[in-house]
Amino acid sequence: MLPPPAEPRPLGRRAFLAHGARLAAGCIAVPAALSASVRADPASDADPVTAARDEARWAPIRACYEPSTRFVNVESGYYSPMSATVREVLEADQRRINALASWYMRREKEGEHEAVRAELARFMRVDADEVALVRNTTEALNTVLQGIDLDVGDEIVACEQEYGSMLQVLDQRSRRDGVVPVVIAEPPLDADVDAIVAHYAAALTPRTRVLLVSHVFYLTGRILPVAAIAAMARARDVFVVCDGAHAFAQLDARPGDLGVDAYAASLHKWLGAPLGNGVLWLAKRHIASIWPLFADADVAVDDIRKFEHYGTHPCANVHGIGTALRVHESIGGAFKEERLRYLKECWTTPLQREPGLRFNTPLHHDGSCALTNVAVDGMTGREAAAALLTRYGVFTVGVRSGVRVAPNLWLTPSDLAPLIDGLRELARRGR
Ligand SMILES: Cc1ncc(COP(=O)(O)O)c(C=O)c1O
Repeated sequence: MLPPPAEPRPLGRRAFLAHGARLAAGCIAVPAALSASVRADPASDADPVTAARDEARWAPIRACYEPSTRFVNVESGYYSPMSATVREVLEADQRRINALASWYMRREKEGEHEAVRAELARFMRVDADEVALVRNTTEALNTVLQGIDLDVGDEIVACEQEYGSMLQVLDQRSRRDGVVPVVIAEPPLDADVDAIVAHYAAALTPRTRVLLVSHVFYLTGRILPVAAIAAMARARDVFVVCDGAHAFAQLDARPGDLGVDAYAASLHKWLGAPLGNGVLWLAKRHIASIWPLFADADVAVDDIRKFEHYGTHPCANVHGIGTALRVHESIGGAFKEERLRYLKECWTTPLQREPGLRFNTPLHHDGSCALTNVAVDGMTGREAAAALLTRYGVFTVGVRSGVRVAPNLWLTPSDLAPLIDGLRELARRGR
């Protein structure tokens, strides 16, 4: 069983020791990598922005990761690897559950799932009875967007920058049920919070029932003022669904503070939980009225667990969420967010005035964190990403608007030098 939930503590020597002890108490074996970080932590009480620049502080945390040496991995957006700590616990759990087999499924699984649910809810600042453990954001968002009752002509508003598969869900609902998707343009990059809220408000009509809004746009990393948008929309009785795929554990924001009606995230992205973990949070008042994707007559209609009936699945994965949360909190969410932002600044600052490069992401503090998008003049995103990989050994991803770059905790500022050189040379070629 996991240890009881405890309040998160910031990165600091005492906090590290406390969390290390809790982590060890909750694990099959003391994970070597994290205990190294606990011992080596030189922290005192620096603030997150100052701490982000202190390489000695991050060295033991970097050592918890095992990135491939085949390329410089700055593509954390699809799937972020587990730290060695999480991987070690996962492997031990797989052995344990494999030995117990059906016994575990029938007698121990539920208790462990409930402990993870409680830990996740505490982290998210929501009630455990509102948290469904699902497999990814796709499942969580489909549950809500397909499960909400809507009439012909009812409108769902979403920005063109929403995740493509979710825009496809809206399209399917349109073809199947006559619901009307209203897909709006992205607010201008220099829009402030009021202008962004006004941009969304202008799209709402008396027929708007649902607003889908990402906390962080997946192609560009732009952070949206979700709480302000949600306050405006909910005042008009619109159901707000937040796609938190790229916000959860990249930002130190907690879903419970956003004032939305539903929230979805993948825990195998920035949290570094085992692959195949997601979460759906649904405000209690809505649980009964949303249909589950998989019918379940054994669970009460107002029980959040009705959304978890997706058949037999790898349970050790779910248990790994608890370990990943404890690793995250040992680092400190605000410390991690500022370290990620600093890594972004390390490569964007030298390139910001480079003619031939165009940033599709607001680079100011609240505009983005690690995830950034840059376009190279005269090249598609795919062409630029291919050149960065083959000529400079840097793994990014080419998307519609440019190259998406997402550094993570295993990198140092100097690891980003080939990315800077590569983008600069691509921008200057032929001139
Ligand atoms: C904004 C956003 N939403 C949803 C998803 C889907 O996540 P998953 O494939 O883990 O379900 C992604 C994946 O990258 C995403 O970026």
